[in-house]
Amino acid sequence: MKELDYKNKKLFFNHSDISELAKKNKTPFFLYSEEILTKNYSDFFYGAVNSGLINPLVCFALKSNPNKELLHILASLGSGADIVSGGELKRAMEAGISPEKIVFSGVGKTEEEIIFALKASKTGIFSFNVESIEELELINQCAKKLKKKARICFRLNPVVQPKTHKYISTGNKTHKFGLLEADILDSLHHKKYWTHSRLVGLSVHIGSQLLDLKATKKAIIKLCDVALSTKAPLEFLDVGGGLGVDYHPDETQKLPSISEYMSLVNETLNKSFYAKSELRPRVVFEPGRRIVAKAGIFVMKVLRNKISENNHFVIVDGGMNDFMRPSLYGAFHDLVPVKEGKSENPCHIVGPICETSDCFGSNRLMPILNTGDFLVLCDTGAYGYSMGSNYNLRGRPLELLIGKNKKIKVINKAQSYLELS
Ligand code: LLP
Repeated sequence: MKELDYKNKKLFFNHSDISELAKKNKTPFFLYSEEILTKNYSDFFYGAVNSGLINPLVCFALKSNPNKELLHILASLGSGADIVSGGELKRAMEAGISPEKIVFSGVGKTEEEIIFALKASKTGIFSFNVESIEELELINQCAKKLKKKARICFRLNPVVQPKTHKYISTGNKTHKFGLLEADILDSLHHKKYWTHSRLVGLSVHIGSQLLDLKATKKAIIKLCDVALSTKAPLEFLDVGGGLGVDYHPDETQKLPSISEYMSLVNETLNKSFYAKSELRPRVVFEPGRRIVAKAGIFVMKVLRNKISENNHFVIVDGGMNDFMRPSLYGAFHDLVPVKEGKSENPCHIVGPICETSDCFGSNRLMPILNTGDFLVLCDTGAYGYSMGSNYNLRGRPLELLIGKNKKIKVINKAQSYLELS
């Protein structure tokens, strides 16, 4: 992870001495950098602007990291939000994100959540990204009760197959997400759905951790075709999130740069939509991982070593309940010792949870790690804390932020197991 480096055998993250922080604070903890977060957001937003897209709207996907302080930073940079629940809507607004910049995705929006979103401002939220016809009917009914007009965007299922883990692939017929072209176009002929709703946009989101953009291009072409077929005066086209990061060194070669990604979006829209229509819908993005994954690390302490014949286990105090990507998706995350040393011992880095999948890395080459030494799990800013749990009745970890002035701030206190009821 290029955001980490050793000075005098000590590991630094964004110029902060990790061992010093780990000695002062309760491990395990997440450590984020305001500077990296800000840079990632700005690179993304200005990448869109510089590629020629007019008035792009970047809606940060809250599910990747809903920490209040981080959201506050993103809100101050102008970010909108992609949300999937009433809880995320409340959190986004509390952090200062205007409802006029909020898109609401998800196949299971409840009546209560829909009403909350409709009441969020005079005009409700920026858009409901609708995933079924029954959902459209419910939103229309709710808007009628409130004497409002809901802003609707259909999430198109473009029937493509991106290269990614099957659990986070979302753009094909067998997936529960989005609506097929025929159903979208058919719904437009039914006036009853539209008495208190208005079609303002169309969206796609085909999956997450995408490094190969072939399917993304196909999906955007399809999005444009369907958008033209609606003949509706669309205000925006939402190309979703999903742009990946390099967790493994082998992925660095494949990683699309922001400018490559933005050029692909811009050129595809130009060819497939702008060249064929008078309309100039703005482009909406829903990135999560690309903004926040590299802005965070997870710091753990070694509890003890255990050797079973040829298997050397290093047992750490962080577990799959704190960070579940390796156990859930078999995801690779780099592990870096905080004290520099010759990495020559193959070890399994495991947590305290009673599951064999509670393993952050198998046969990783490490220096000798002793009780009390610290270890960093890299690239954990996205889908880390947000997917954590109290499994095994463990408390939730601390979250720290390295501010712009390099001051360390507690942005979420550790939860002790004594607080659990
Ligand atoms: N928009 C929608 C509608 C989504 O469902 C998602 C992610 C995003 C945007 C943001 O995608 P991103 O830019 O972060 O790839 N827990 C998994 C990832 C699940 C993604 C779910 N949806 C992981 O740790 O890899």
